[in-house]
Amino acid sequence: MLQKGEQLYEGKAKKVYATDDANLVIVDYKDDATAFNGEKKGTIVGKGVVNNRMSNLFFELIEQNGIPTHYVKTLSDRETLVKKVTIIPLEVVVRNLAAGSMAKRLGLTEGMDLPRPLVEFYYKDDALGDPLVTDDHVDVLGIADAPTRETLRRMALGVNDVVKRFLITRNVILVDFKLEFGRTADGQIVLADEISPDTCRFWDATTKEKLDKDRFRRDLGNVEEAYAEMMKRVTGGTLQ
Ligand code: TMP
Repeated sequence: MLQKGEQLYEGKAKKVYATDDANLVIVDYKDDATAFNGEKKGTIVGKGVVNNRMSNLFFELIEQNGIPTHYVKTLSDRETLVKKVTIIPLEVVVRNLAAGSMAKRLGLTEGMDLPRPLVEFYYKDDALGDPLVTDDHVDVLGIADAPTRETLRRMALGVNDVVKRFLITRNVILVDFKLEFGRTADGQIVLADEISPDTCRFWDATTKEKLDKDRFRRDLGNVEEAYAEMMKRVTGGTLQ
């Protein structure tokens, strides 16, 4: 039996625990919600369960499509066993439609279709507010070399394909999302972190209603309802 050990780390939305296997850790999802680099704080009741279940389903689907991830197995409604990785300090964003910071920065209408999926790198540093960085920044600062950047791009576009195609069968448009990658002890690059309404923009394909964390960020109301609706559409399950 796997033992849950000491807490290694507490982030804004998850805690990470050691296990008796040095290569495995347990992720524990919280209901805490933050936005704008932690400036805005709140609770989304049930979020931890929704994000854990939804993320695990997506990670299984992604693995089945040949893209390696940190996922090992679901332990409970909020806990998942994952491979221990060293996170590459880049937030890899893929966009199918213009929205959020891209729409704002470039003066585009939210929802404008892009001719092809766009990949962006942000330097993962809360104190700096996760700034957008160019390929050259990533290179010169030694954050990731050219082959690593190519791997991240290819994997991120692969995840986009898999998740986008699945979601449209549930009448959901995948507008954009953020991924994080890590290296396992043997040096393999795997998809890590989570794929959930916290880290994606999901729009109802018919009404364009927002079914993600933008409801919390922008004070749109019905936040819990949107998370529950997404879980129902993706996993078929409900919160009791
Ligand atoms: P953005 O438009 O605000 O740059 O966000 C792009 C995507 O990344 C969006 O789906 C939400 C997600 N995201 C995170 O997961 N964490 C963050 O801290 C931010 C700013 C965005």
